[in-house]
Amino acid sequence: MQKVLEDYIRMCYDGFLQGWHERNGGNLTYRMKAEEAEDCCGLFSPDVRHFTLPVEVSQLAGEYFITTGSGRYMRNVPLAPEKNIGIIKIDDDGKGYSILWGLEDGVKPTSELPSHLLNHVSRMSVSGGRCRVIYHAHPANITALSYTIEPDAKTLSRILWQSETECAVVFPQGVGILDWMIPGGTEIAQKTSELIRKYPAVVWAFHGIFGSGETFDETFGLIHTIEKAAEIYLKAKGAGIIRTISDDQLRILADAFGVAINEDFLK
Ligand code: 13P
Ligand code: ZN
Repeated sequence: MQKVLEDYIRMCYDGFLQGWHERNGGNLTYRMKAEEAEDCCGLFSPDVRHFTLPVEVSQLAGEYFITTGSGRYMRNVPLAPEKNIGIIKIDDDGKGYSILWGLEDGVKPTSELPSHLLNHVSRMSVSGGRCRVIYHAHPANITALSYTIEPDAKTLSRILWQSETECAVVFPQGVGILDWMIPGGTEIAQKTSELIRKYPAVVWAFHGIFGSGETFDETFGLIHTIEKAAEIYLKAKGAGIIRTISDDQLRILADAFGVAINEDFLK
């Protein structure tokens, strides 16, 4: 199997093993490099299925993506990749896409495709084209944490930075949060893509999280770090927090690791 498909499948299953993908929860898209798409072209079907997109993504014209299927289970991806994931190509005018491989038996790409594509547009733009991965997961602790705070990025980011020393180094910009909205639509896609311009990850209150990165490792690691910090916070809060990492310590940490911590979120 092509290495890019192997790496993609591994990430799907790793997320399942973490407990982030109950039933069909969560989805993953990867913007393929030209050589990776070339490597997979032997798989492409001559009978492509074509669909119109509810959002226009001219910035992604001609790009190839690997995507999970709507209603498909991450748990089953390694067993039958061709039924649970697929490769799509965005039309030259950015208004539709074709399914070139996989998503067999009439399966469509994830219902969160509008969020994924608009998030790709945002992160491509802020990363100078280096961001390739957008990942949506349903981790229990970060979702539980969203019930304990107002939907405010500063509050959330400070809690996470204070809950594990590595956090300020891994996401010095902080983490965004969107208040509850109906999932699967273009409105939540628009709002998430605005926030993900500023932050590498955005929590969907009472639902889960979207994360982005240049590689599968970076993206998985980001969500893993956020989720673990949320777990530590909830445990510490349950036990009773009597002290935490100070803002001065966060600044010292950022200096030591050469990252620009978001000063707006410090006191
Ligand atoms: P899909 O099965 O359509 O990917 O939806 C899962 C999900 O997590 C929706 O937010
Ligand atoms: Zn979801």
